[in-house]
Amino acid sequence: MADRESPRYVILFATAVCVACAFVVSVAAVLLQPAQKANARLYMEKNVLLAAGLVKPTDKVGAKEVEAFFQKDVKARLVDLLTGELLLEDKRDARSYDQRAARADPGASHAAPPNGAGIGRIPDLAVAYFVMKDGKVDQVVIALEGLGMWGTVYGFMAIDKDGRTIRGLTYYDQKETPGLGGEIANPQWQALWVGRHVYDGEGLPKITVVKGAAGPPDKDPLRVDGMSGATITSNAITRLTQFWLSDFGYGKFLKRYGKGGGHMNPLVEVAEGDAHLQHA
Ligand SMILES: Cc1cc2nc3c(=O)[nH]c(=O)nc-3n(C[C@H](O)[C@H](O)[C@H](O)COP(=O)(O)O)c2cc1C
Repeated sequence: MADRESPRYVILFATAVCVACAFVVSVAAVLLQPAQKANARLYMEKNVLLAAGLVKPTDKVGAKEVEAFFQKDVKARLVDLLTGELLLEDKRDARSYDQRAARADPGASHAAPPNGAGIGRIPDLAVAYFVMKDGKVDQVVIALEGLGMWGTVYGFMAIDKDGRTIRGLTYYDQKETPGLGGEIANPQWQALWVGRHVYDGEGLPKITVVKGAAGPPDKDPLRVDGMSGATITSNAITRLTQFWLSDFGYGKFLKRYGKGGGHMNPLVEVAEGDAHLQHA
């Protein structure tokens, strides 16, 4: 019988417990990884639907409901940000494309110009979610991200087929202070963006979160109410929004999209080498 109080026994016992626990944790991490990835994607796709106004924040939306939207009305496609063209659908599955991983990969991203949004690298390809209505594009949802006061904030913005009117906004991943900058996650503040314009008459991304209150969207389309006590986050949102709407972000794509006026067709297969876009 082993001497349970001998140093050798104690060390061997502790080592065995550590190895067994490490094994259990590793197996659990590996086995749960697909479920974690699926949940993260479900959460993001639910926020795409929220931005597009297809579901409400209070709606109970599970995997089945999200899948139904994506099978019918929502079509995810990849955009080449450098040219503004859509990538052929069969080249990549846009729904499983990891844009955050891409912008951290030097082989799948390029350096951003100096900017105030804390963006170091831009992914070569970015996701655009087309929302269809009666067989035509009704709106498109683009991804936003940038540095807030306390960390990176991630969101989605839905833009009408006219290429400039905001249809909806969500911020679904952020570290701003609740009640201050954290108001970016408040559906009431997000609703203030609806009906406003992303570009001015010259096509420049001028939408700005102001200190204090803006006028109604029809009279004051390029300004949004700031969050009180949170000017740092408000300014950060202006900078990151303008960055992604600029030609360094989705700008080139949005100009092509707006010109199509709802006729850009993400569902039609286009021959390789074509413009990747089809206008009616
Ligand atoms: C603990 C703490 C947390 C804060 N969190 C935020 C924040 O998330 N976003 C923000 O813009 N300001 C935040 N502030 C306030 C800023 O320091 C700054 O005062 C504010 O942005 C100025 O906005 P105002 O000009 O509207 O007062 C925080 C301040 C404190 C003390």
